[in-house]
Amino acid sequence: MAPVPKGATVAVTGSAGFIGGWVVRRLLDKGYRVRACVRNADDGERTGFLKAMPGYASGRLTLHSADLDNAGSLDDIFAGCHGVCHVAHVSSYSDHEYVRMVCDHLIESVNKSRTVSRVVVTSSIAAVMSEADIQEFVRRPTFYEDRYPDEENPRRTPQRQGYSMGKVIAQRAFSDAAEASGDWDAITCCPADNVGPILSPHQKNMGPWQHNIETMLLGKYNQNGGYRPWMIVDVRDDADCHIGLLESVHVGNGERYIAWSTDTRNVEDICADIDRLLPELGHDTPEVTDPFPDRIKAREAEYRAIWAGCDLRNDRIKAVTGMEFRPLDESIRDCVESLLTVAKVKPVLREGFEHRVA
Ligand SMILES: NC(=O)c1ccc[n+]([C@@H]2O[C@H](COP(=O)([O-])OP(=O)(O)OC[C@H]3O[C@@H](n4cnc5c(N)ncnc54)[C@H](OP(=O)(O)O)[C@@H]3O)[C@@H](O)[C@H]2O)c1
Repeated sequence: MAPVPKGATVAVTGSAGFIGGWVVRRLLDKGYRVRACVRNADDGERTGFLKAMPGYASGRLTLHSADLDNAGSLDDIFAGCHGVCHVAHVSSYSDHEYVRMVCDHLIESVNKSRTVSRVVVTSSIAAVMSEADIQEFVRRPTFYEDRYPDEENPRRTPQRQGYSMGKVIAQRAFSDAAEASGDWDAITCCPADNVGPILSPHQKNMGPWQHNIETMLLGKYNQNGGYRPWMIVDVRDDADCHIGLLESVHVGNGERYIAWSTDTRNVEDICADIDRLLPELGHDTPEVTDPFPDRIKAREAEYRAIWAGCDLRNDRIKAVTGMEFRPLDESIRDCVESLLTVAKVKPVLREGFEHRVA
């Protein structure tokens, strides 16, 4: 199917969110017309930042209230759009009937539009590498698009792995529907751990990664699950990946692409990086606490060695979009500065330093 034309009209679900907000912003920067879908366009706390974007004043950006749980809520919004970025979360990932229902709502609205030629569906690296058994990373350590979690593992249940499973279900629902339609294609984007600047104060509590940096600033931080290092994409690069996939002439229905820089970093290093990158701030780097039971702690070295043996790949998204990913230091620095300025977070500082923002 055709990529969206330059300057086309694109609908973005989850526009009030961290990634969705940046997809809106970058689409506007690139000259597109944007229909931002939020649950409540009148909720100033969540949509004020969208209304402050220059495209809103001119009408190039419009805001629309739509709850994905309600069939038909997107019909009028998608009518006349060339592209859709379906970035929004859904209310539950463990109830897979519900996940399918929400997909059907979106798919029906895309089909009814008769104008949409491409949908980019936001999935996650969880749909690539969330494993019920960590030894699976020893058996299959290369993280690339054809890798799926071991779907035969009996411990891969909706209760334990609902998010990862729900994302795979959504990917397949959209691909199958697009194939059946023949009028549009569905390309899935699998983002990694998003770090970078927030655009609105409410986004500091979402994430989780920007929220984790907020907790570091506030003097607390826990070890990451299974001692997994953060596997990063800058939220601005993630948005550009979504747009690149809308525009690319090299992608086809049913394909998916991982959006990450392939940079990884352990949580204790990220915590210390705040002071390394912004020594003027005087951040009092907290100790990273390890909340895991002793039986997990005893295997820390083994787990870390397994992660160190994993090979993260982004060859494919680079090839089809021309993307270059920014270094993680830039994402951490800009995330911290946005938390201070946009959300007015007051970090714990060492003696002799003062808060600069009231
Ligand atoms: N953040 C990450 O590191 C990361 C990594 C991998 C994948 N992802 C995926 O990327 C997407 C966006 O993540 P994010 O971090 O930007 O999330 P976020 O900041 O929490 O934003 C998600 C948005 O989803 C919207 N939403 C939730 N339920 C909805 C419903 N029933 N109907 C309509 N909208 C609904 C919310 O809209 P309102 O604000 O309007 O209520 C919210 O703004 C998700 O699909 C997530 O799985 C994120």
